[in-house]
Amino acid sequence: MFIEDFKVESPNVTYSDNEIHSIYNYETTELVHENRKGSGYQWIVKPKSVKYEFKTDTHVPKLGVMLVGWGGNNGCTLTGGVIANREGISWATKDKVQQANYFGSLTQASSIRVGSFNGEEIYAPFKSLLPMVNPDDIVFGGWDISDMNLADAMTRAKVLDIDLQKQLRPYMEHMIPLPGIYDPDFIAANQDSRANNIIKGTKKEQLEQVIKDIREFKENNKVDKVVVLWTANTERYSNVVVGLNDTTENLMAAIDRNESEISPSTLYAIACVLENVPFINGSPQNTFVPGLIDLAIKNNSLIGGDDFKSGQTKMKSVLVDFLVGAGIKPTSIVSYNHLGNNDGMNLSAPQTFRSKEISKSNVVDDMVASNGILYEPGEHPDHVVVIKYVPYVGDSKRAMDEYTSEIFMGGKNTIVLHNTCEDSLLAAPIILDLVLLAELSTRIQFKSEAEDKFHSFHPVATILSYLTKAPLVPPGTPVVNALSKQRAMLENIMRACVGLAPENNMILEYK
Ligand code: NAI
Repeated sequence: MFIEDFKVESPNVTYSDNEIHSIYNYETTELVHENRKGSGYQWIVKPKSVKYEFKTDTHVPKLGVMLVGWGGNNGCTLTGGVIANREGISWATKDKVQQANYFGSLTQASSIRVGSFNGEEIYAPFKSLLPMVNPDDIVFGGWDISDMNLADAMTRAKVLDIDLQKQLRPYMEHMIPLPGIYDPDFIAANQDSRANNIIKGTKKEQLEQVIKDIREFKENNKVDKVVVLWTANTERYSNVVVGLNDTTENLMAAIDRNESEISPSTLYAIACVLENVPFINGSPQNTFVPGLIDLAIKNNSLIGGDDFKSGQTKMKSVLVDFLVGAGIKPTSIVSYNHLGNNDGMNLSAPQTFRSKEISKSNVVDDMVASNGILYEPGEHPDHVVVIKYVPYVGDSKRAMDEYTSEIFMGGKNTIVLHNTCEDSLLAAPIILDLVLLAELSTRIQFKSEAEDKFHSFHPVATILSYLTKAPLVPPGTPVVNALSKQRAMLENIMRACVGLAPENNMILEYK
């Protein structure tokens, strides 16, 4: 059965006018020590229960979303998609009359299991767990180094159906991106021809302009909160250098000196952190240099990333988890992609491709490390990623993967996948989830029984990791790539906020 809404009745949960307060017993396991056992060792582990309290501010703000790269394929597809949903637009395709929807969005189109009732499983929308911004109410804006209005950008992108484009045009033709920070050293040379909308000046002046833009956007649109998200071109990695960007002080001094190695994405992110505006990086480059992470921690300003997890990598973080979880040993993973959109053209330069290669490469590490029966310490499957630019396929990215694994008694199993990704149609709902969840997470405060004061989540937002290929985590924190674990983490934290037990799938009632 599917229900639209629910409220928790429990001595551990109080709903007041402004907040939901919950008391939550976090059941976990502590590793205590190693004991000698025969010729080997045995670990002693102890179950542990820690009491937590969560407070969620239920005042849903009017939200502004500023996209860096607003006029790109993702930016205009998301903007058009949200308008189409808001306006209830339908359009004719060769197959049928299509209604706008949010398929592919975890928050808008997936569900959670609430419990059982009379032998039936009860499900509810994911978004019914906690009060969240309704996408209809988002005000979009942002920057692009190309001054093309969003209606023309949508035509350039060739993503949405033509009948839909015609209906969206009046809503989007007056949307013109603000000038962006352009540094040809950081993206492919082939992007130069679209760079006609640029913030001039030194790095410091560019940073100040972005701050001014955010303030004006907030003021002009009367929004309570802004989230900024990078969906601009993939940049090359910037060099992390002692004295340049390794500490906050060095990074800020480097901007004052107009050092060339400070990337545009880092400048936008610094502006956001200084303004206490959440900043999410949807591309693979190392925007978050150590000095910037330090600054975000000092200012307690949310940062999240890196690189949307939309197609091939999403499959990989499911498939390898399944294989290793089944006791099968993947030994070779070979991934080819070809795509023909502007992202593909930008990635055809070796330096920008390298950023993508890095972010796609580490995605199986946690799964491999989880199984010491299959893998020796330090052992790793061969893992190769190839990306080619093929203009004809446009935004319809093809991802082909071959997984070879060792199975029982020396046998080999090979799985081959062909995945037509429709890149921006997969990425746009993920962008929506990222901004909605980032906003929500800034309204949650919690404390453990050992703490006196409530505090927010760590500013490095691991809660968003389901949506990113190379989750950014605070220094010294484990990276989790396995998709089902990432989803469970997010759902279970949200359940804790309303005093519900984590989904443990035991269904003991029926055993
Ligand atoms: P796109 O090339 O269509 O759009 C990027 C836009 O950013 C362009 O309009 C460009 O003019 C603008 N731009 C470039 N540098 C800028 C700057 N410094 N400031 C402001 N604007 C700037 O690319 P698309 O397809 O929208 O993808 C965007 C990013 O998302 C790429 O980096 C891509 O690698 C990443 N990504 C996309 C995924 C997907 O579409 N499925 C999945 C994972 C990541």
